[in-house]
Amino acid sequence: MPKILEKITLAPKIHQLRFCVPELVKKALPGQFVILRANEYGERIPMSIAQMDKKKGILTIVVLEVGKSTALLGSLKTGDEISDLLGPLGNPTEMKLFGTVVCVGGGIGIAPLYTLIEGFKSLGNKIITIIGAKTKESVIKEEELRKISDRVLVTTDDGSYGIKGFVTDALKELLKNEKIDLVMAVGPVLMMKAVSQMTKAYNLKTWVSLNPIMIDGTGMCGGCRVLIDGKNKFACVDGPDFEASLVDFDNLIQRQKCYLQQEKTAYARSNQR
Ligand SMILES: Cc1cc2nc3c(=O)[nH]c(=O)nc-3n(C[C@H](O)[C@H](O)[C@H](O)COP(=O)(O)OP(=O)(O)OC[C@H]3O[C@@H](n4cnc5c(N)ncnc54)[C@H](O)[C@@H]3O)c2cc1C
Ligand code: FES
Repeated sequence: MPKILEKITLAPKIHQLRFCVPELVKKALPGQFVILRANEYGERIPMSIAQMDKKKGILTIVVLEVGKSTALLGSLKTGDEISDLLGPLGNPTEMKLFGTVVCVGGGIGIAPLYTLIEGFKSLGNKIITIIGAKTKESVIKEEELRKISDRVLVTTDDGSYGIKGFVTDALKELLKNEKIDLVMAVGPVLMMKAVSQMTKAYNLKTWVSLNPIMIDGTGMCGGCRVLIDGKNKFACVDGPDFEASLVDFDNLIQRQKCYLQQEKTAYARSNQR
């Protein structure tokens, strides 16, 4: 059973967990994810690979508490064990020399940017990173991302830090002033949709990492079905990255909300115990 080597709370309800899983880390590539269960009765939850130390075999994930399972993960401590950890899953992000790559991360979507930027940077790309959060205290990973990016822009919804507004406000300015070759966006669906709408006007190659509800993560259950260019795809085996202009974001938003009532009930029950 994988043991938590280190747990650090990065911001309210956002926790970084590290595990020593050399076999998994050896095979993992930027853009992939894992599926884990906190305990033997727990549901399977997908988590992006936030960082990986290939030499030491250490995997880092960053968890935002949004419901029963993520709250349970958030309650664990250094030294605790989780039931299982499966991966790497999904296709790695396509890495090559594009030129200037803008990496956009919103909320918990900031966490997986590190491995993506490391990968793009190692191939000679110039990296401009935009990270956005609701408030100053929920901005995570800024210092680490500054070390590996050529430039970092931070936005907060309330203006308590960096540029006041959304990541798209920072992107809008960049699009006017920079020659950009690729935009990679990870975050809430509404954010990815807004990025997609903005870059479409420039006919700019844009990838999004989709986060539908997943169960097995291996293409068997159909839970992660997404509509891409009018065709059904499974985000776990066909993605998670897709060309943004082809994604039916409204369908994804609708499907993400499918079990809202059950999720609320499960969370309320777990809080009563
Ligand atoms: C490829 C991928 C990578 C992800 N990476 C991260 C990450 O790095 N950090 C992070 O905090 N979260 C990540 N998520 C989202 C995370 O899996 C969900 O927040 C988590 O499963 C919610 O479980 P819950 O019981 O706490 O909340 P619930 O109350 O059950 O659900 C809250 C919301 O989370 C979504 N959700 C619920 N169950 C799942 C599921 N099995 N799969 C996907 N989404 C679900 C739904 O939109 C739901 O409305 C990722 C999701 C995907 C698909
Ligand atoms: S999670 Fe089951 S098919 Fe993708």
